[in-house]
Amino acid sequence: MPEQRKPVFMQSLPGFRDFLPDDCARRNYIFTRWREVARRYGFVEWEGPPLEGTELYKKKSGAEIVEQLFNFTDKGAREVALRPELTPTLARVVAAHEREFKKPLKWFSIGQFFRYEKQQRGRLREHFQLNCDIIGENDLAADIELVALSIDLLRAFGLTEKDFVVRISDREFWTDFFREKSVSAERWDDLLQAIDKSAREPREKTAEKLGDLADPVFATLKSGGKSAKLEQLVEGLRARGLADFVAVDVGIVRGLAYYTGIVFEVFDRTGKFRAIAGGGRYDNLISQLSDGSLSLAALGFAMGDVVLGELINEISRAREAMQKAIANDSKIDIYVVIAKEERRADALAQIQQLRDRGYRIDYALTSTKVARQFQAAEDLGARVAVLYGDEWPQVKVKYMTSGEQKLISSEDLLSGVESVVR
Ligand code: HAM
Repeated sequence: MPEQRKPVFMQSLPGFRDFLPDDCARRNYIFTRWREVARRYGFVEWEGPPLEGTELYKKKSGAEIVEQLFNFTDKGAREVALRPELTPTLARVVAAHEREFKKPLKWFSIGQFFRYEKQQRGRLREHFQLNCDIIGENDLAADIELVALSIDLLRAFGLTEKDFVVRISDREFWTDFFREKSVSAERWDDLLQAIDKSAREPREKTAEKLGDLADPVFATLKSGGKSAKLEQLVEGLRARGLADFVAVDVGIVRGLAYYTGIVFEVFDRTGKFRAIAGGGRYDNLISQLSDGSLSLAALGFAMGDVVLGELINEISRAREAMQKAIANDSKIDIYVVIAKEERRADALAQIQQLRDRGYRIDYALTSTKVARQFQAAEDLGARVAVLYGDEWPQVKVKYMTSGEQKLISSEDLLSGVESVVR
């Protein structure tokens, strides 16, 4: 039935995705690489709840996120929201459990997030993020490590410095700038938001928001701005051979309110897509959320699955690597062909034992023509088909790629399965 003619309850909500098996395979491909690279950097996995008290986000995420909350009053009259991001949860969890862990913490998490955004390319109402955060480390070495991790995460998908760039900036660059121009601290947040949006908004609109600072801010954005800290950061990445992946761009300030220092966003080189990832330092958030009872330096970033998926599809090298990995992963080891129904019980007994040993096995649940069973073996990418029929207690092993066949005893199949499924 065409999507528009379906009754409303049979349609998915705008901005929400159904994950059919192929979509799940692509999602798992992304998650597997995310997890693998985060572990390479010594990060450990954790997770928070998908629903939080609305107040957690109202306190510090900033106006934009609060406007986008999926929130409601629960049956216990609590104001709750589906999580739009992980950082406030992380600050809450760290504040509660900080004593149980040695610093710095290096934590990562993969989960689903919800924002009531206008649905557009690269932006949905649900998405998955990998979050990587370092808690309890002031040194710039942590910022360098984190940017390097964001680069290596994308390299793991076959993407190169020709495909993406990490744009790095420092909020302190701007707060120093405001201080120098004697701008009162109450205006800083609004000014930072205006600079953050400047690349996406008409110049007049930004100029209006910046007021008397419009000319000096535009001049600084044009000249690029310089800072010793940013240079040191780039040098740190150069030492790792990663300098070609980054560019200093003081126009990046990030939309979220809690950042205090280095901030960065990752974009595709063509500038066609929305940000792939973003993050930075938020040294005051834990203290602000814990009402000053605990103060810990913190920094992190999140990478989303939506734009990354679009970029992988766009770049043939990355797309082919994904298709190859998915095809390999979806293959089964053995397809059991039941040629005689009398042998079904024997076949099932062996299937059970082979599955116990970790082999991926499939077979026809009901009586099916032998030719169709072999076709299924091929469709499922089985390395071998094992036929249970007149030869019992011997079984016929057929190698699906070469077509080579041999008869072996069913006992040998079990005892020597490693050499059979070679
Ligand atoms: P963010 O920039 O809001 O940062 O989101 C990070 C990434 O999540 C974005 O670059 C984008 O790829 C993806 N993303 C965000 N919203 C959507 C959406 N509506 N649809 C699809 N993808 C989306 C944060 O969330 C920070 N909490 C990151 C962080 C972690 N900072 C410190 N630690």
